Amino acid sequence: MVDQTRYDGQVVVVTGAGNGLGRQYALFFAARGAKVVVNDLGGNAFGKDKEGKGQSRVADAVVKEIRDAGGIAVANYDPVQQGDRIIKTAVDNFGTVHVLINNAGILRDVTIRNMKDADWDIIMDVHVHGSFKTARAAWPFFKKQKYGRIINTSSSSGLFGNFGQSNYAAGKMAMVGFTKTLAKEGAKYNITCNVLAPGAASRLTQTVWTPEMMDVMRPDFVVPLVGVLSHESCRESGSIFEAAAGHFSKIRWERSKGFQARPDDSLTADVLLKNWKQVVNFTDAEHPNQPSHLIERLEKALELPPASGDSSISLQGK
Ligand code: NAI
Repeated sequence: MVDQTRYDGQVVVVTGAGNGLGRQYALFFAARGAKVVVNDLGGNAFGKDKEGKGQSRVADAVVKEIRDAGGIAVANYDPVQQGDRIIKTAVDNFGTVHVLINNAGILRDVTIRNMKDADWDIIMDVHVHGSFKTARAAWPFFKKQKYGRIINTSSSSGLFGNFGQSNYAAGKMAMVGFTKTLAKEGAKYNITCNVLAPGAASRLTQTVWTPEMMDVMRPDFVVPLVGVLSHESCRESGSIFEAAAGHFSKIRWERSKGFQARPDDSLTADVLLKNWKQVVNFTDAEHPNQPSHLIERLEKALELPPASGDSSISLQGK
């Protein structure tokens, strides 16, 4: 069977591509015709040790692997917090960028009681600030060519919360709001943006799972989802996906039908308490994907005239 999932002529930037998942993405794209920027600063799993021995040029090793196999790639060693430089590497070498995989990541696990400002700040810096810096720098190229694909990396720790990871969870959940907004801003330019919550054996997970689990959680089993979401045929945007060990699924918001009180002086905590079961009952739940969804619901329930303004309208095109 001929495999149709190719990226010939596409310029793909993968951050944190020196190890783990990012390395697999870079190898995948290069093997299927893309020109790849392999970004990695070569730190350890905790964001320290920038010039750690044998680590600082992990990007070079991946570039060599790609070139040895006949592919096209260049290395970039900038931290994602300087994402504009990573995009510049793509533009300087290949003229533009089509696909951006925001994958670089670190951990600083510690409970809230013991978390230092530095533990919080570095996680926000790498995951949130880094993804913003690369996406903002790539955006003008996407917009001009009316084409762009972004994948931002989240985590089940962000989507569901996880003990000892309040910093990481906050940063990873930030990817959801960021992605859903970019999906809306990019819609008319054929720019899609999606969230990936992966599960894969890597140095970030080696202390968490059993050896048996690590065996099935191969990073290359996550790659097909990245391939689909970054393909030109992709129509998904603003969505959240999970991928691990051959499992692929989509996650969405769910809102209970809820309880609608009369919005007047009769509305008290007692009234709400009496109707609490309705608030938390998910029978006939809705799946909203617009902030206006609740307002429309209120307009209907309270027989109000439709809202006249949408804050996004005045900004469109800017
Ligand atoms: P990894 O540690 O094997 O690879 C991450 C790479 O990012 C490393 O090579 C590192 O040097 C690089 N990096 C770190 N900070 C950087 C920075 N500031 N600038 C440039 N490069 C930087 O980790 P893994 O497991 O491959 O993780 C990839 C992404 O997937 C991360 O965002 C991680 O949070 C996320 N993730 C991974 C999961 C897993 O099961 N492995 C689960 C959930 C999320």
